[in-house]
Amino acid sequence: MPEDREPTAAPGQAVRHEGARLPARGPQFEVAARNPRRAEGVVAVAFGASLLSFAAFGGAYWTNADNFVLGLTLGVALAAFGFALTYWGKYLMPRGPFEESRPMMATTRAEREEMVADFALRGKVAVERRGFLAKLMAAAGAVLGIVVAFPLIRSLGPKPDQSLYHTKWRKGSRLTTIDGQFVHVDDLDVGGIVTVFPPDDIGGAFSQTILLRITQTGNVVTEPGRETWGPDGYLAYSKVCTHAGCPVGLYEKLTQQLLCPCHQSLFNVLDGAFPVFGPAPRPLPQLPLYVDGEGYLRAQSDYLEPIGPGFWYRGGSNVMYK
Ligand code: FES
Repeated sequence: MPEDREPTAAPGQAVRHEGARLPARGPQFEVAARNPRRAEGVVAVAFGASLLSFAAFGGAYWTNADNFVLGLTLGVALAAFGFALTYWGKYLMPRGPFEESRPMMATTRAEREEMVADFALRGKVAVERRGFLAKLMAAAGAVLGIVVAFPLIRSLGPKPDQSLYHTKWRKGSRLTTIDGQFVHVDDLDVGGIVTVFPPDDIGGAFSQTILLRITQTGNVVTEPGRETWGPDGYLAYSKVCTHAGCPVGLYEKLTQQLLCPCHQSLFNVLDGAFPVFGPAPRPLPQLPLYVDGEGYLRAQSDYLEPIGPGFWYRGGSNVMYK
């Protein structure tokens, strides 16, 4: 232990004393482990296990594994990481105590330089493979950091690709009710409506279509170029609102308008479902229909434009407005 020394200073002068030197080595700088090399190995194995477990967790999350696998891999990874840190701190760090008598706060420049040199030396004494362990810890932490970013990527779900541009309606698809009944041309009275689907996508959110009967006979033409789309007084529009995707399920027979209950957009069914009120930015897409030889209603094709909110439409001249 360093000697206590009284400061030597004249009144009004900076206090100086010949500082006590800290020993560069001593029992307090010994690590607690009886076998430091073995302890280093334990820490390395734990960090390695945490690294592999973090990576396994990332892989499990990416492949949508079940919750047991996710919990197991993340639990093992965190436990191994924590164990490694704790073991390192307990067995491979200098034990101390680091106490010294401190008669004065003032030190000379030489003392400060010695202290810095001692401090640097001590760092090398306790653990010879500190750099290796630090790199391993950094690698495990880096894998954890990457895995933490997975929810931002994996949870977005699969890429929709072209699925948002098409529905299950095809040429010849029979108009089918939610009960699986094919719609015959005699089924609806004038003013009647029913929700229909293609037979292979009954209940499908993208395919849901509202079928209306406007007149008893004749084609209903809503736009130039749609002369054959509304046979025998029938019209069919996508039921998915072009504002935010709510189902447009209310029909006002007197005004012949479809109403979206979410934000009160109104669509004129005789005018190609053009929005006459509310926030909907474009008409509901119309499904072209025909009546087959047995009198059943069928689709001429899929919708000719994407249904629902106009995610695909970005600026430019707004051709959807009249
Ligand atoms: S979702 Fe239809 S008006 Fe908003």
